[in-house]
Amino acid sequence: MKTEICPSMMCADIFDLQNVISVFEKNKIDYLHIDVMDGSFVPNFTLGTDYCRLLKERTDIPLDIHLMIDRPEDKTDWFPIGENDYVSVHIESTNHLHRALARIKDKRAKAMAALNPATPLCMIENVLDDIDAVLIMTVNPGYAGQKLIPSTLKKIEETRAFLDSSGYTGVEIEVDGNVSFENAVKMKKAGANMFVVGSSGIFSKDFTLEEGIDRFRKATE
Ligand code: DX5
Ligand code: ZN
Repeated sequence: MKTEICPSMMCADIFDLQNVISVFEKNKIDYLHIDVMDGSFVPNFTLGTDYCRLLKERTDIPLDIHLMIDRPEDKTDWFPIGENDYVSVHIESTNHLHRALARIKDKRAKAMAALNPATPLCMIENVLDDIDAVLIMTVNPGYAGQKLIPSTLKKIEETRAFLDSSGYTGVEIEVDGNVSFENAVKMKKAGANMFVVGSSGIFSKDFTLEEGIDRFRKATE
């Protein structure tokens, strides 16, 4: 499966966004990962609907909208969701996961089910026909700059094995949280192919964004 880079936009320098997007376009970045937090499902506020709209107007790079919000099924209409975009909803954030995924599919976008580190894999069993990807959180969502929860590596492996043995070989696995160059190698080996790269990956004061992307690609080759 193709290795895809999804930079975490909450880690990008907001005063330099124009340049950041140009670098991503030039380097053929796959998706822009946008963390939407509502201060209830997770203890933080981050990027929102206007931010998504502005990015959509500015670039053709597809969006990867990570909804860390309660009852996402009521809120998908607030976002500019296109055919090539991914939208992820947390299993823990709704009593109506199937409905939330259907709302995304209504927009012809790609649907992703997200699991917090403590949520068991079996929770996706009954929505396999409704998803294009599974998002395995490798930290507790809410903040950038956290440490990898080691047990999530095994969970990635189990997810890939479960999807493959159930006949869903085309369903992608995204990982989010402390996806450093070093951790990405382990995550890829475990079966992940979409990488949310943030403060521990390509966004660093020690090298340019372009160098970061290059290093990431070399590490996960
Ligand atoms: C939470 C976020 C964070 C973060 C990723 O959903 O997506 O995981 O921005 O970057 P790191 O963990 O490298 O700071
Ligand atoms: Zn995220």
